[in-house]
Amino acid sequence: MTKSNSCALKGHYSVTVPEPDDFMYWRDQARHLIQCGIPPERVSWTDGQSSGDLFSSGNDVLPPIPDSEPTVRSSRRFMSLARNAALHSDPERFALLYALLWRLQKAPRLMEDKTDGDVRRVELLDKSVRRDSHKMHAFVRFRKIETSTGEEHYVAWFEPDHHIVRANAGFFKKRFANMRWSILTPRGCIHWDLNSIRESPPAHKSDAPDSDATEDLWKKYYASIFNPARLKVSAMMSEMPKKFWKNMPEAALIPELIASAQSRESQMVDAGKIGFEKRPATLAELKDRLQSCRQCSIGCSATQSVAGEGAPGSRLMIVGEQPGDQEDIEGRPFVGPAGKLLDVFLGKSGIARADAFVTNAVKHFKYERRGKRRIHQSPTAKEIDTCRWWLESERQIVGPKLILALGASAARSVLGKTVSLQQARGRPVKLDDGSELWITAHPSYLLRLTGDARLEQERLFARDLAAVQERMREVII
Ligand code: URA
Repeated sequence: MTKSNSCALKGHYSVTVPEPDDFMYWRDQARHLIQCGIPPERVSWTDGQSSGDLFSSGNDVLPPIPDSEPTVRSSRRFMSLARNAALHSDPERFALLYALLWRLQKAPRLMEDKTDGDVRRVELLDKSVRRDSHKMHAFVRFRKIETSTGEEHYVAWFEPDHHIVRANAGFFKKRFANMRWSILTPRGCIHWDLNSIRESPPAHKSDAPDSDATEDLWKKYYASIFNPARLKVSAMMSEMPKKFWKNMPEAALIPELIASAQSRESQMVDAGKIGFEKRPATLAELKDRLQSCRQCSIGCSATQSVAGEGAPGSRLMIVGEQPGDQEDIEGRPFVGPAGKLLDVFLGKSGIARADAFVTNAVKHFKYERRGKRRIHQSPTAKEIDTCRWWLESERQIVGPKLILALGASAARSVLGKTVSLQQARGRPVKLDDGSELWITAHPSYLLRLTGDARLEQERLFARDLAAVQERMREVII
Protein backbone atom coordinates (compact mmCIF):
# COMPACT_ATOMS: atom_id res chain seq x y z
CA MET A 1 0.00 0.00 0.00
CA THR A 2 1.17 3.56 -0.75
CA LYS A 3 2.29 5.78 2.14
CA SER A 4 2.79 9.57 2.35
CA ASN A 5 2.73 12.37 4.86
CA SER A 6 -0.62 13.73 3.91
CA CYS A 7 -4.05 12.47 3.23
CA ALA A 8 -6.76 14.05 1.13
CA LEU A 9 -8.85 15.33 4.02
CA LYS A 10 -11.57 16.78 1.87
CA GLY A 11 -13.23 15.14 -1.07
CA HIS A 12 -15.34 12.06 -1.48
CA TYR A 13 -14.09 8.56 -2.08
CA SER A 14 -15.90 5.75 -3.72
CA VAL A 15 -14.80 2.18 -3.13
CA THR A 16 -15.95 -0.70 -5.30
CA VAL A 17 -15.48 -4.06 -3.65
CA PRO A 18 -14.69 -6.13 -6.74
CA GLU A 19 -16.68 -9.18 -5.75
CA PRO A 20 -19.79 -8.90 -3.58
CA ASP A 21 -18.42 -11.40 -1.03
CA ASP A 22 -14.88 -10.04 -0.85
CA PHE A 23 -14.59 -9.27 2.84
CA MET A 24 -10.78 -9.09 2.75
CA TYR A 25 -10.87 -6.38 0.10
CA TRP A 26 -13.39 -4.40 2.15
CA ARG A 27 -11.22 -4.86 5.26
CA ASP A 28 -8.06 -3.60 3.54
CA GLN A 29 -9.80 -0.55 2.09
CA ALA A 30 -11.56 0.20 5.37
CA ARG A 31 -8.24 0.07 7.29
CA HIS A 32 -6.67 2.35 4.75
CA LEU A 33 -9.51 4.89 4.98
CA ILE A 34 -9.44 4.88 8.77
CA GLN A 35 -5.69 5.40 8.81
CA CYS A 36 -6.29 8.41 6.60
CA GLY A 37 -8.99 9.67 8.98
CA ILE A 38 -11.72 9.70 6.34
CA PRO A 39 -15.16 9.65 8.01
CA PRO A 40 -17.99 7.41 6.75
CA GLU A 41 -19.98 10.29 5.26
CA ARG A 42 -17.14 10.90 2.78
CA VAL A 43 -17.04 7.34 1.47
CA SER A 44 -19.50 5.50 -0.71
CA TRP A 45 -19.30 1.75 -1.10
CA THR A 46 -20.55 -0.45 -3.91
CA ASP A 47 -19.85 -4.02 -4.88
CA GLY A 48 -18.92 -5.79 -8.08
CA GLN A 49 -22.49 -6.83 -8.65
CA SER A 50 -23.56 -3.23 -9.23
CA SER A 51 -20.81 -3.08 -11.84
CA GLY A 52 -22.36 -6.13 -13.49
CA ASP A 53 -19.90 -8.98 -13.09
CA LEU A 54 -19.68 -11.21 -10.03
CA PHE A 55 -16.05 -12.16 -10.55
CA SER A 56 -14.70 -8.86 -11.90
CA SER A 57 -12.14 -6.53 -10.24
CA GLY A 58 -12.32 -2.91 -8.97
CA ASN A 59 -9.97 0.09 -9.31
CA ASP A 60 -10.44 2.56 -6.50
CA VAL A 61 -7.84 5.25 -5.86
CA LEU A 62 -7.42 6.17 -2.19
CA PRO A 63 -5.15 8.79 -0.68
CA PRO A 64 -1.77 7.55 0.62
CA ILE A 65 -1.50 6.34 4.24
CA PRO A 66 0.34 8.78 6.55
CA ASP A 67 3.84 7.70 7.62
CA SER A 68 2.71 7.53 11.24
CA GLU A 69 0.50 4.54 10.22
CA PRO A 70 -2.20 5.13 12.87
CA THR A 71 -3.38 1.99 14.63
CA VAL A 72 -6.77 0.66 13.56
CA ARG A 73 -8.82 -0.75 16.41
CA SER A 74 -11.26 -3.56 15.95
CA SER A 75 -12.64 -6.34 18.12
CA ARG A 76 -12.98 -10.07 17.72
CA ARG A 77 -16.75 -9.81 17.86
CA PHE A 78 -16.83 -7.11 15.20
CA MET A 79 -14.61 -9.15 12.88
CA SER A 80 -16.64 -12.30 13.25
CA LEU A 81 -19.96 -10.52 12.61
CA ALA A 82 -18.50 -8.42 9.80
CA ARG A 83 -17.14 -11.45 7.94
CA ASN A 84 -20.69 -12.81 7.62
CA ALA A 85 -22.50 -9.49 7.27
CA ALA A 86 -20.28 -8.69 4.28
CA LEU A 87 -21.94 -11.59 2.42
CA HIS A 88 -25.43 -10.11 2.83
CA SER A 89 -27.20 -8.84 -0.29
CA ASP A 90 -28.03 -5.52 1.39
CA PRO A 91 -26.28 -2.87 -0.80
CA GLU A 92 -25.66 -0.78 2.35
CA ARG A 93 -23.70 -3.50 4.17
CA PHE A 94 -20.17 -2.25 3.42
CA ALA A 95 -21.08 1.34 4.36
CA LEU A 96 -22.66 0.11 7.58
CA LEU A 97 -19.58 -1.94 8.45
CA TYR A 98 -17.34 1.02 7.79
CA ALA A 99 -19.50 3.32 9.95
CA LEU A 100 -19.27 0.81 12.78
CA LEU A 101 -15.52 0.34 12.41
CA TRP A 102 -15.12 4.11 12.42
CA ARG A 103 -17.09 4.42 15.68
CA LEU A 104 -15.10 1.55 17.21
CA GLN A 105 -11.98 3.72 17.04
CA LYS A 106 -13.41 5.99 19.74
CA ALA A 107 -15.68 3.48 21.50
CA PRO A 108 -13.80 0.16 21.73
CA ARG A 109 -16.63 -1.50 23.69
CA LEU A 110 -19.32 -0.48 21.23
CA MET A 111 -20.00 -4.06 20.11
CA GLU A 112 -21.21 -4.91 23.61
CA ASP A 113 -23.98 -2.30 23.39
CA LYS A 114 -27.04 -4.38 22.49
CA THR A 115 -29.18 -1.26 22.14
CA ASP A 116 -27.01 0.40 19.52
CA GLY A 117 -28.82 0.58 16.17
CA ASP A 118 -25.73 -0.11 14.01
CA VAL A 119 -24.64 -3.05 16.15
CA ARG A 120 -28.16 -4.46 15.97
CA ARG A 121 -28.28 -4.08 12.18
CA VAL A 122 -24.99 -5.91 11.74
CA GLU A 123 -26.18 -8.69 14.05
CA LEU A 124 -29.30 -9.08 11.92
CA LEU A 125 -27.27 -9.25 8.70
CA ASP A 126 -25.04 -11.89 10.27
CA LYS A 127 -28.04 -13.93 11.40
CA SER A 128 -29.68 -13.82 8.02
CA VAL A 129 -26.47 -14.93 6.26
CA ARG A 130 -25.97 -17.80 8.68
CA ARG A 131 -29.52 -18.93 8.07
CA ASP A 132 -29.01 -18.79 4.31
CA SER A 133 -25.88 -20.96 4.60
CA HIS A 134 -27.77 -23.41 6.78
CA LYS A 135 -30.48 -23.65 4.09
CA MET A 136 -27.84 -24.25 1.43
CA HIS A 137 -26.30 -27.10 3.44
CA ALA A 138 -29.72 -28.63 4.00
CA PHE A 139 -31.48 -28.14 0.69
CA VAL A 140 -28.92 -28.57 -2.09
CA ARG A 141 -30.00 -31.69 -4.04
CA PHE A 142 -27.63 -33.12 -6.63
CA ARG A 143 -28.89 -34.80 -9.78
CA LYS A 144 -26.72 -37.18 -11.75
CA ILE A 145 -25.74 -36.39 -15.33
CA GLU A 146 -23.32 -38.11 -17.70
CA THR A 147 -20.66 -35.93 -19.29
CA SER A 148 -19.56 -36.27 -22.92
CA THR A 149 -16.50 -38.23 -21.67
CA GLY A 150 -18.81 -40.75 -19.96
CA GLU A 151 -17.99 -39.59 -16.41
CA GLU A 152 -20.63 -39.28 -13.73
CA HIS A 153 -21.21 -35.70 -12.62
CA TYR A 154 -23.70 -34.34 -10.10
CA VAL A 155 -25.37 -31.01 -10.60
CA ALA A 156 -27.53 -29.00 -8.18
CA TRP A 157 -29.50 -25.81 -8.58
CA PHE A 158 -29.78 -23.49 -5.57
CA GLU A 159 -31.06 -19.93 -5.11
CA PRO A 160 -29.34 -18.26 -2.15
CA ASP A 161 -30.61 -14.99 -0.75
CA HIS A 162 -27.07 -13.73 -0.14
CA HIS A 163 -23.55 -13.98 -1.54
CA ILE A 164 -22.79 -17.21 0.27
CA VAL A 165 -21.80 -19.52 -2.57
CA ARG A 166 -18.03 -19.18 -2.44
CA ALA A 167 -17.98 -19.11 1.35
CA ASN A 168 -19.70 -22.50 1.43
CA ALA A 169 -17.59 -24.24 -1.22
CA GLY A 170 -15.40 -25.82 1.47
CA PHE A 171 -18.40 -27.39 3.17
CA PHE A 172 -19.52 -29.17 -0.01
CA LYS A 173 -15.98 -30.12 -0.97
CA LYS A 174 -15.57 -31.88 2.35
CA ARG A 175 -19.00 -33.49 2.35
CA PHE A 176 -18.95 -34.68 -1.28
CA ALA A 177 -15.21 -35.14 -1.75
CA ASN A 178 -15.57 -38.33 -3.77
CA MET A 179 -17.87 -37.14 -6.50
CA ARG A 180 -17.62 -34.58 -9.24
CA TRP A 181 -20.21 -31.92 -8.68
CA SER A 182 -21.39 -28.46 -9.67
CA ILE A 183 -23.61 -26.13 -7.72
CA LEU A 184 -25.28 -23.68 -10.06
CA THR A 185 -26.77 -20.50 -8.67
CA PRO A 186 -27.88 -17.11 -9.98
CA ARG A 187 -25.07 -15.58 -7.87
CA GLY A 188 -22.22 -17.59 -9.40
CA CYS A 189 -21.38 -21.29 -9.60
CA ILE A 190 -18.84 -23.62 -8.01
CA HIS A 191 -17.51 -26.93 -9.36
CA TRP A 192 -15.48 -29.74 -7.81
CA ASP A 193 -13.52 -32.12 -10.06
CA LEU A 194 -12.02 -34.30 -7.27
CA ASN A 195 -8.94 -32.03 -7.20
CA SER A 196 -9.91 -28.42 -6.96
CA ILE A 197 -12.78 -25.99 -6.75
CA ARG A 198 -13.45 -23.89 -9.83
CA GLU A 199 -15.77 -20.92 -10.10
CA SER A 200 -17.90 -19.75 -12.99
CA PRO A 201 -20.37 -16.89 -13.61
CA PRO A 202 -24.05 -17.04 -12.61
CA ALA A 203 -26.21 -19.71 -14.18
CA HIS A 204 -29.88 -20.08 -15.00
CA LYS A 205 -32.17 -22.74 -13.60
CA SER A 206 -32.57 -24.23 -17.07
CA ASP A 207 -28.81 -25.05 -17.01
CA ALA A 208 -29.45 -27.63 -14.28
CA PRO A 209 -31.04 -31.04 -14.90
CA ASP A 210 -34.60 -31.62 -13.70
CA SER A 211 -34.62 -35.16 -12.37
CA ASP A 212 -32.64 -38.37 -12.45
CA ALA A 213 -33.09 -42.05 -11.81
CA THR A 214 -32.04 -41.89 -8.15
CA GLU A 215 -34.92 -39.56 -7.35
CA ASP A 216 -37.55 -42.28 -6.89
CA LEU A 217 -35.23 -44.09 -4.53
CA TRP A 218 -34.68 -40.92 -2.53
CA LYS A 219 -38.45 -40.26 -2.35
CA LYS A 220 -39.07 -43.78 -1.07
CA TYR A 221 -36.38 -43.33 1.55
CA TYR A 222 -37.75 -39.95 2.64
CA ALA A 223 -41.29 -41.31 2.99
CA SER A 224 -39.97 -44.16 5.12
CA ILE A 225 -38.08 -41.92 7.55
CA PHE A 226 -40.81 -39.28 7.78
CA ASN A 227 -42.14 -39.42 11.34
CA PRO A 228 -45.78 -38.30 11.45
CA ALA A 229 -45.72 -38.04 15.26
CA ARG A 230 -43.04 -35.34 15.06
CA LEU A 231 -44.84 -33.31 12.45
CA LYS A 232 -45.22 -29.62 13.28
CA VAL A 233 -46.41 -27.99 10.09
CA SER A 234 -45.56 -24.38 11.02
CA ALA A 235 -42.06 -25.28 12.25
CA MET A 236 -41.49 -27.38 9.15
CA MET A 237 -42.60 -24.57 6.83
CA SER A 238 -40.27 -22.08 8.49
CA GLU A 239 -37.35 -24.53 8.47
CA MET A 240 -37.99 -25.67 4.92
CA PRO A 241 -39.45 -22.64 3.11
CA LYS A 242 -41.52 -23.40 0.02
CA LYS A 243 -39.03 -21.54 -2.17
CA PHE A 244 -36.66 -24.53 -1.85
CA TRP A 245 -39.26 -27.18 -2.56
CA LYS A 246 -38.89 -27.01 -6.31
CA ASN A 247 -35.31 -28.29 -6.12
CA MET A 248 -36.07 -31.11 -3.73
CA PRO A 249 -37.47 -34.33 -5.11
CA GLU A 250 -38.98 -35.31 -1.76
CA ALA A 251 -40.99 -32.06 -1.65
CA ALA A 252 -43.51 -33.59 -4.05
CA LEU A 253 -44.46 -35.97 -1.23
CA ILE A 254 -44.85 -33.37 1.51
CA PRO A 255 -48.54 -32.36 1.02
CA GLU A 256 -49.63 -36.01 1.01
CA LEU A 257 -47.43 -36.90 4.00
CA ILE A 258 -48.85 -33.98 5.99
CA ALA A 259 -52.40 -34.90 5.05
CA SER A 260 -51.96 -38.50 6.16
CA ALA A 261 -49.85 -37.72 9.26
CA GLN A 262 -52.70 -37.97 11.74
CA SER A 263 -53.89 -41.41 10.70
CA ARG A 264 -50.29 -42.63 10.48
CA GLU A 265 -49.66 -41.33 14.00
CA SER A 266 -52.65 -43.31 15.30
CA GLN A 267 -51.28 -46.40 13.57
CA MET A 268 -47.91 -45.80 15.23
CA VAL A 269 -49.55 -45.42 18.63
CA ASP A 270 -51.48 -48.67 18.11
CA ALA A 271 -48.31 -50.41 16.96
CA GLY A 272 -46.50 -49.08 20.04
CA LYS A 273 -49.08 -50.71 22.31
CA ILE A 274 -48.03 -54.17 21.25
CA GLY A 275 -45.79 -55.60 23.92
CA PHE A 276 -47.16 -53.42 26.72
CA GLU A 277 -49.51 -56.01 28.13
CA LYS A 278 -46.91 -57.61 30.36
CA ARG A 279 -46.11 -55.31 33.25
CA PRO A 280 -42.50 -54.77 34.34
CA ALA A 281 -41.50 -56.74 37.42
CA THR A 282 -38.96 -54.29 38.83
CA LEU A 283 -38.36 -50.55 38.82
CA ALA A 284 -35.18 -51.07 36.81
CA GLU A 285 -37.08 -52.97 34.11
CA LEU A 286 -39.77 -50.32 34.11
CA LYS A 287 -37.22 -47.52 33.69
CA ASP A 288 -35.55 -49.37 30.87
CA ARG A 289 -38.76 -50.10 28.95
CA LEU A 290 -40.09 -46.60 29.53
CA GLN A 291 -37.26 -45.15 27.44
CA SER A 292 -38.70 -46.59 24.25
CA CYS A 293 -42.34 -45.76 24.98
CA ARG A 294 -43.99 -43.94 22.10
CA GLN A 295 -47.58 -44.70 22.99
CA CYS A 296 -48.29 -41.03 22.49
CA SER A 297 -46.26 -38.49 20.57
CA ILE A 298 -44.80 -36.58 23.57
CA GLY A 299 -41.89 -38.98 23.82
CA CYS A 300 -40.73 -38.12 20.31
CA SER A 301 -39.54 -34.64 21.25
CA ALA A 302 -38.43 -35.16 24.86
CA THR A 303 -34.77 -35.76 25.71
CA GLN A 304 -35.59 -38.86 27.70
CA SER A 305 -38.35 -40.40 29.79
CA VAL A 306 -38.38 -39.65 33.51
CA ALA A 307 -39.39 -42.60 35.65
CA GLY A 308 -40.34 -42.32 39.32
CA GLU A 309 -37.62 -42.29 41.95
CA GLY A 310 -37.62 -43.99 45.32
CA ALA A 311 -37.61 -47.41 46.92
CA PRO A 312 -40.08 -50.24 46.35
CA GLY A 313 -42.12 -50.50 49.54
CA SER A 314 -42.26 -46.71 50.10
CA ARG A 315 -45.36 -45.93 52.16
CA LEU A 316 -46.01 -42.70 50.30
CA MET A 317 -46.12 -42.08 46.56
CA ILE A 318 -46.08 -38.45 45.38
CA VAL A 319 -47.42 -37.93 41.88
CA GLY A 320 -46.75 -34.76 39.89
CA GLU A 321 -47.93 -33.80 36.42
CA GLN A 322 -44.98 -34.35 34.08
CA PRO A 323 -41.22 -33.65 34.05
CA GLY A 324 -40.27 -30.04 33.35
CA ASP A 325 -37.34 -28.68 31.38
CA GLN A 326 -34.73 -29.51 34.02
CA GLU A 327 -36.19 -32.93 34.81
CA ASP A 328 -36.14 -33.76 31.10
CA ILE A 329 -32.44 -32.95 30.94
CA GLU A 330 -31.45 -34.68 34.18
CA GLY A 331 -33.84 -37.64 33.81
CA ARG A 332 -35.07 -37.29 37.42
CA PRO A 333 -38.43 -36.10 38.77
CA PHE A 334 -38.89 -32.85 40.67
CA VAL A 335 -35.35 -31.49 40.48
CA GLY A 336 -36.33 -28.06 39.04
CA PRO A 337 -38.01 -25.03 40.69
CA ALA A 338 -41.28 -26.86 41.49
CA GLY A 339 -39.24 -29.68 43.05
CA LYS A 340 -37.31 -27.23 45.21
CA LEU A 341 -40.54 -25.73 46.53
CA LEU A 342 -41.96 -29.18 47.14
CA ASP A 343 -38.84 -30.08 49.15
CA VAL A 344 -39.27 -26.98 51.32
CA PHE A 345 -42.88 -27.87 52.18
CA LEU A 346 -42.14 -31.57 52.67
CA GLY A 347 -39.39 -30.52 55.08
CA LYS A 348 -41.73 -28.19 56.97
CA SER A 349 -44.36 -30.89 57.33
CA GLY A 350 -41.86 -33.46 58.54
CA ILE A 351 -42.05 -35.76 55.50
CA ALA A 352 -38.64 -36.98 54.37
CA ARG A 353 -38.47 -37.05 50.58
CA ALA A 354 -36.31 -40.15 50.84
CA ASP A 355 -39.27 -41.98 52.40
CA ALA A 356 -41.48 -41.28 49.43
CA PHE A 357 -41.59 -42.58 45.87
CA VAL A 358 -41.75 -39.47 43.67
CA THR A 359 -43.15 -39.76 40.18
CA ASN A 360 -45.34 -38.12 37.54
CA ALA A 361 -48.62 -38.77 35.73
CA VAL A 362 -46.91 -38.33 32.36
CA LYS A 363 -43.36 -39.56 31.95
CA HIS A 364 -42.10 -37.30 29.17
CA PHE A 365 -41.75 -33.52 29.01
CA LYS A 366 -44.35 -31.89 26.77
CA TYR A 367 -43.34 -28.44 25.55
CA GLU A 368 -43.57 -25.90 22.80
CA ARG A 369 -40.38 -24.39 21.48
CA ARG A 370 -40.21 -20.57 21.46
CA GLY A 371 -36.82 -19.51 20.19
CA LYS A 372 -34.31 -21.14 22.48
CA ARG A 373 -36.85 -21.69 25.26
CA ARG A 374 -38.98 -24.78 25.80
CA ILE A 375 -42.31 -23.74 27.23
CA HIS A 376 -44.25 -26.29 29.31
CA GLN A 377 -47.51 -27.50 27.82
CA SER A 378 -50.13 -29.33 29.87
CA PRO A 379 -50.76 -32.91 28.81
CA THR A 380 -54.21 -33.67 27.40
CA ALA A 381 -56.60 -36.03 29.20
CA LYS A 382 -55.87 -38.59 26.48
CA GLU A 383 -52.13 -38.35 27.05
CA ILE A 384 -52.59 -38.73 30.82
CA ASP A 385 -54.78 -41.77 30.27
CA THR A 386 -52.29 -43.30 27.85
CA CYS A 387 -49.45 -42.88 30.33
CA ARG A 388 -51.55 -44.25 33.19
CA TRP A 389 -50.32 -47.75 32.40
CA TRP A 390 -46.89 -46.74 33.65
CA LEU A 391 -48.16 -45.18 36.86
CA GLU A 392 -50.19 -48.28 37.57
CA SER A 393 -47.10 -50.39 36.97
CA GLU A 394 -45.17 -48.23 39.44
CA ARG A 395 -47.97 -48.57 41.97
CA GLN A 396 -47.91 -52.36 41.62
CA ILE A 397 -44.17 -52.53 42.20
CA VAL A 398 -43.93 -49.92 44.98
CA GLY A 399 -47.25 -50.68 46.73
CA PRO A 400 -47.73 -47.35 48.53
CA LYS A 401 -50.33 -47.08 51.27
CA LEU A 402 -50.79 -43.37 50.63
CA ILE A 403 -50.70 -41.44 47.37
CA LEU A 404 -50.40 -37.68 47.26
CA ALA A 405 -51.54 -36.26 43.90
CA LEU A 406 -50.20 -32.80 43.13
CA GLY A 407 -52.72 -31.07 40.89
CA ALA A 408 -55.52 -32.12 38.57
CA SER A 409 -53.44 -34.12 36.07
CA ALA A 410 -51.99 -36.26 38.83
CA ALA A 411 -55.44 -36.82 40.34
CA ARG A 412 -56.82 -37.88 36.96
CA SER A 413 -53.93 -40.23 36.47
CA VAL A 414 -54.64 -42.04 39.75
CA LEU A 415 -58.44 -42.01 39.50
CA GLY A 416 -58.87 -42.39 35.74
CA LYS A 417 -61.32 -39.48 35.72
CA THR A 418 -61.22 -35.72 36.22
CA VAL A 419 -62.12 -34.38 39.66
CA SER A 420 -62.50 -30.85 40.97
CA LEU A 421 -59.43 -29.98 42.96
CA GLN A 422 -61.35 -27.56 45.18
CA GLN A 423 -63.78 -30.28 46.20
CA ALA A 424 -61.40 -33.18 46.43
CA ARG A 425 -58.44 -31.67 48.28
CA GLY A 426 -57.81 -32.20 51.94
CA ARG A 427 -59.74 -35.46 52.44
CA PRO A 428 -58.82 -39.04 51.61
CA VAL A 429 -60.26 -41.09 48.73
CA LYS A 430 -60.22 -44.87 49.18
CA LEU A 431 -58.75 -46.69 46.17
CA ASP A 432 -59.55 -50.22 44.96
CA ASP A 433 -56.26 -51.68 46.16
CA GLY A 434 -56.90 -50.43 49.70
CA SER A 435 -54.55 -47.47 49.48
CA GLU A 436 -55.60 -43.90 50.11
CA LEU A 437 -55.39 -40.92 47.80
CA TRP A 438 -54.88 -37.34 48.97
CA ILE A 439 -55.18 -34.51 46.49
CA THR A 440 -53.60 -31.07 46.75
CA ALA A 441 -52.39 -28.26 44.49
CA HIS A 442 -49.30 -28.51 42.30
CA PRO A 443 -46.26 -26.52 43.56
CA SER A 444 -45.91 -24.91 40.08
CA TYR A 445 -49.30 -23.32 40.71
CA LEU A 446 -47.93 -21.76 43.89
CA LEU A 447 -44.88 -20.53 42.01
CA ARG A 448 -47.08 -18.59 39.61
CA LEU A 449 -48.85 -16.69 42.42
CA THR A 450 -47.72 -13.59 44.28
CA GLY A 451 -48.71 -11.61 47.36
CA ASP A 452 -51.69 -12.66 49.48
CA ALA A 453 -52.88 -15.24 46.95
CA ARG A 454 -49.54 -17.02 47.24
CA LEU A 455 -49.58 -16.88 51.03
CA GLU A 456 -53.09 -18.33 51.13
CA GLN A 457 -52.21 -21.19 48.77
CA GLU A 458 -49.03 -21.92 50.71
CA ARG A 459 -51.13 -22.17 53.85
CA LEU A 460 -53.51 -24.67 52.22
CA PHE A 461 -50.62 -26.65 50.73
CA ALA A 462 -48.90 -26.88 54.11
CA ARG A 463 -52.19 -27.92 55.70
CA ASP A 464 -52.69 -30.74 53.13
CA LEU A 465 -49.15 -32.00 53.59
CA ALA A 466 -49.54 -31.96 57.36
CA ALA A 467 -52.66 -34.12 57.02
CA VAL A 468 -50.73 -36.61 54.86
CA GLN A 469 -47.89 -36.69 57.36
CA GLU A 470 -50.40 -37.40 60.10
CA ARG A 471 -51.82 -40.34 58.07
CA MET A 472 -48.32 -41.65 57.41
CA ARG A 473 -47.84 -42.03 61.13
CA GLU A 474 -51.18 -43.82 61.49
CA VAL A 475 -50.86 -46.19 58.52
CA ILE A 476 -49.51 -49.56 59.56
CA ILE A 477 -46.95 -50.93 57.16
N1 URA B 1 -43.46 -30.68 37.73
C1 URA B 1 -43.95 -31.94 37.81
O1 URA B 1 -45.14 -32.16 37.83
N2 URA B 1 -43.09 -32.92 37.87
C2 URA B 1 -41.79 -32.76 37.85
O2 URA B 1 -41.06 -33.73 37.89
C3 URA B 1 -41.31 -31.44 37.80
C4 URA B 1 -42.16 -30.41 37.72
